[in-house]
Amino acid sequence: MLHNIPELVKKRMNYLEKIDAEDRVDGTPRMERLRQIPPETGKFLSILAAGAPNGEFLEIGTSGGYSTLWIALACIERGIKIKTFEILEEKIKLAKETFRESEMANYIELVEGDTRDFLKEEKNISFCFLDAEKEVYDDCYNLIIPNMVKGGLLVADNAINHYETLKPMINKVLSDERVDAMIVPIGKGELLCRKI
Ligand SMILES: C[S@@+](CC[C@H](N)C(=O)[O-])C[C@H]1O[C@@H](n2cnc3c(N)ncnc32)[C@H](O)[C@@H]1O
Repeated sequence: MLHNIPELVKKRMNYLEKIDAEDRVDGTPRMERLRQIPPETGKFLSILAAGAPNGEFLEIGTSGGYSTLWIALACIERGIKIKTFEILEEKIKLAKETFRESEMANYIELVEGDTRDFLKEEKNISFCFLDAEKEVYDDCYNLIIPNMVKGGLLVADNAINHYETLKPMINKVLSDERVDAMIVPIGKGELLCRKI
């Protein structure tokens, strides 16, 4: 999977990495910043997703589709689609371009709108990457865990760089007896939960 990333996927990943890096140094980004994960977190997500149990794959917070591409590498192997949610119009446009240019549209469904309006309908979830505004993490967690299969994995980004903001949610998750959970010190810090 990581040894044979399709050339068009690599090309689009490089393009998005360049925009993201420029956004971080420029004072005036051309659009709302992409705020995407670093490549090592992408690889971590690919490997976790490849080994998740059977079920539905979700992502909350698409941005330009960078993290979606990493997770979708596991979807190629498994012959399934990931459903990814994005609320902002300019990000939706960029993500659509990403999935078209990388020729990965067969493995990705982009849902436009506030994730919380759709999550109640999602059942049989086996993998979820949560990477949206921190204010929605708790709501999303509460909607996902009851609908997750045994052994399903939920990964929430920014557990270290936004630790103070996320502290109440993180503490709740770490003591939630429905899951085993820990913070993995990779990238911006990943809160990793496995449904028991
Ligand atoms: C940190 S960025 C995602 C970065 C992306 N996961 C990546 O690594 O390439 C967060 C994204 O979540 C989106 N978002 C925030 N709240 C949302 C919500 N309630 N529903 C859907 N998308 C949301 C934002 O518009 C933004 O594009």
